Amino acid sequence: MSERIAVEQMLALFELARRPAMPHIEDGYLDLLGDEDPTGAHPGQRLMLSSALALIYERLWRPLGGRLLMGATGPGMREERRMAMSMLALSPNDRVLDVACGPGNFTREFARAAGNGLVVGIDASGTMLDVAVRKTERANLAYLRGDACALPFRDGSFDAVCCFAALYLIQEPMQALDEIARVLAPGGRVALLSSCNRGPLPAGATNAVVRSLSGVRIFARDELTRALRDRGLTGIHQHVVGLAQFVSARKRI
Ligand SMILES: C[S@@+](CC[C@H](N)C(=O)[O-])C[C@H]1O[C@@H](n2cnc3c(N)ncnc32)[C@H](O)[C@@H]1O
Repeated sequence: MSERIAVEQMLALFELARRPAMPHIEDGYLDLLGDEDPTGAHPGQRLMLSSALALIYERLWRPLGGRLLMGATGPGMREERRMAMSMLALSPNDRVLDVACGPGNFTREFARAAGNGLVVGIDASGTMLDVAVRKTERANLAYLRGDACALPFRDGSFDAVCCFAALYLIQEPMQALDEIARVLAPGGRVALLSSCNRGPLPAGATNAVVRSLSGVRIFARDELTRALRDRGLTGIHQHVVGLAQFVSARKRI
């Protein structure tokens, strides 16, 4: 299967009204945003558009960020990948969506596991996607520049959806969760990694400082599990490590 076929397969999952008449595969990924930028104005959000960050993200920024969030004894990158794979329980023919995929650091792992299936990485940052495309090694993988809060896919398009280290940066995270729940197929699995409020202060008070300075939102301990339950997901499991939480769930059959 050539990369072009992966893009065609991805386009076949689009809602008809969202299918571009002349798909523009800019630099190896399909760009749905053009001049639109859903990233948000906080410094931490703007940083995701920097080409310098995209270059050091996978080897330096992300491992360091994981340590800061989860502590020295928390999972490293290899363990995070293992956790994502276990939460998503991928099979060789699965269709997998990696929401806010960055430079594809998890997306590539999903593509290795999804064999004859299809893996789509979506991100709003062209600089991140440039790196992702350069590192692509599988023909079952397609990248898309788009907004996590307005996914172009039909309901129930994916067997598994991952969103790691991104909900806390996404401008409207609950809208992104609406979309994630919508595009999951019945029985589909979701895996999230995000922030988790642990201190004596309620999340609202923590956010008044942290979010306004950095753009990173701190979710209350039960905010994401409740949001998934409200969206009809089941089998919800939360694992809190330091200031982070891994959450997995499944859509009812
Ligand atoms: C910290 S990176 C996470 C990358 C990868 N998932 C990981 O775990 O390392 C966060 C990503 O979220 C993306 N992002 C932020 N807001 C977005 C939105 N509204 N739609 C799509 N991607 C968004 C940024 O461009 C950035 O690449």
